[in-house]
Amino acid sequence: MESSAYPMLFSPIKVGTTEVKNRVFMPPVSTNLADHGYVTDDLVDHYRARAKGGVGLIITEVVTVEPTYTYLPGDMCCYDDTFIPGWEKLAAAVHEYGCKIMPQLFHPAYMAFNIPGTPRLIAPSFVGPSYAREAPRPITVDEIHELTHQFGDAAVRMQKAGVDGVEVHAAHAHGMLGGFLTPLYNKRTDEYGGSLDARMRFLLEVIAEIRERCGKDFIIDVRISGDEYTDGGLTLNDMIYVSRRLEKAGVDMIHVSGGTTIKRGSAIPAAGTQQASHAACSREIKKHVNIPVATVGRINEAWIAEELIEDGAADICMMGRANLCDAEFCNKAAAGNADDIRPCIGCLRCLNGIMFGKRISCTVNPDVERDEAGYEPAAEAKNVLVVGAGPAGMEAAYIAAKRGHNVVLVDKQDEPGGEMRIAAVPPAKQELTRVIKYQYRRLAKAGVKCVFGTELSAEDIQRDYAGYEVVLAYGAEPIAPASCRDLSRS
Ligand SMILES: Cc1cc2nc3c(=O)[nH]c(=O)nc-3n(C[C@H](O)[C@H](O)[C@H](O)COP(=O)(O)O)c2cc1C
Ligand code: SF4
Repeated sequence: MESSAYPMLFSPIKVGTTEVKNRVFMPPVSTNLADHGYVTDDLVDHYRARAKGGVGLIITEVVTVEPTYTYLPGDMCCYDDTFIPGWEKLAAAVHEYGCKIMPQLFHPAYMAFNIPGTPRLIAPSFVGPSYAREAPRPITVDEIHELTHQFGDAAVRMQKAGVDGVEVHAAHAHGMLGGFLTPLYNKRTDEYGGSLDARMRFLLEVIAEIRERCGKDFIIDVRISGDEYTDGGLTLNDMIYVSRRLEKAGVDMIHVSGGTTIKRGSAIPAAGTQQASHAACSREIKKHVNIPVATVGRINEAWIAEELIEDGAADICMMGRANLCDAEFCNKAAAGNADDIRPCIGCLRCLNGIMFGKRISCTVNPDVERDEAGYEPAAEAKNVLVVGAGPAGMEAAYIAAKRGHNVVLVDKQDEPGGEMRIAAVPPAKQELTRVIKYQYRRLAKAGVKCVFGTELSAEDIQRDYAGYEVVLAYGAEPIAPASCRDLSRS
């Protein structure tokens, strides 16, 4: 894949013995689209759209390797062979577009979902995040060995299904392996706790198991936090050491994230925060290993990703929400059409939804589960009037035009955007202006006639737009959170 616009980003890279066509990888983003752990057609469509959109390699959302503990009810699993056929379908759909795919292997430990009937949660030690209902039970050494084997079984199954490798999740003080690594949650006094070497033991045993059973051509990538940014947590120095040990253990790539799941915003940065949030860690770690290093965290524009690679901060950019928000991110960027990319605003509606068991959704992309090419042409082309050029009106006008209707969009303001123009005013909300620009630009391309500075009454509509289908998309009212209402009174 070549691009004169972003030559570094869209140059190939070798991970282990596998060549990947470009350096935009998609990090794990849970969708809640699986059915009792099984791959669904919706999941296949979701990942196929990103593969078709040009991503080099997709790391899927968490995939649990044993049956007792569920992370989110809609997550994928691979704890027995019945899961293989679904994965075959998924791998084939992604490979069709020259994209590689790797499941993120995971055990949720103290973060398992509270499904009725779930036994007491297990963990490295008797400590867990503050929101846990009760202290978890420390996993025994025999259970560690069994779980190591289960990670290996899961990798072998995935290999049979045709995936290109696996990512082992050991970041964010999250789940079992992230928990063992961090001094925040590993308080063991046996051979699996105490020193950093001992806390790494379980992870290294899992890697050895997978490598032995899946062979040298199967990619093994480990996700780590380059720094937990937390008092008493893992530091960058620790993680340089860990990365070197991982390289020695035969890992093919290190995915440097940062922070913890508990320290809000540290692992999944919010809107208005610095882009490429963990690049300082990946840059430092890259100096100490010879395998590819990926960076992640609010990288949502192609020029930033290009600069990170050119500047030596990483070999690979993981771009999660950017590819969620626009499945065609890569193709558009590679072709030099970055202005046509649907901008992610960092609002985290996607995350809020899945944490409460809902299907993945996106504030800016109503087509997040599939790609917009899925819209059928209308059986009969009609005249359509959309009143209100806020985000809903512009989306309605665009989709109607895409389906072949003749669309007029009218707004009483002199500019498009509606209430969103006001919403973009506070600090950290600047990115909303990009959504307005993006939506308006699309309208012109789709042939929508826009009329501004015109207020229409019901009589005006009946007289001037007789026979039109009418969409009323005005009248949005801002919601003021209770805390702001209180402030305004004081
Ligand atoms: C909706 C959502 C689901 C996520 N699911 C996972 C997951 O299953 N495993 C994981 O390691 N990280 C997960 N993450 C974190 C992302 O992999 C990524 O580190 C984070 O979103 C920052 O990258 P971005 O700004 O490019 O999205 C998730 C993030 C979001 C927003
Ligand atoms: S919901 Fe918000 S943060 Fe998530 S992908 Fe969409 S715009 Fe980005």
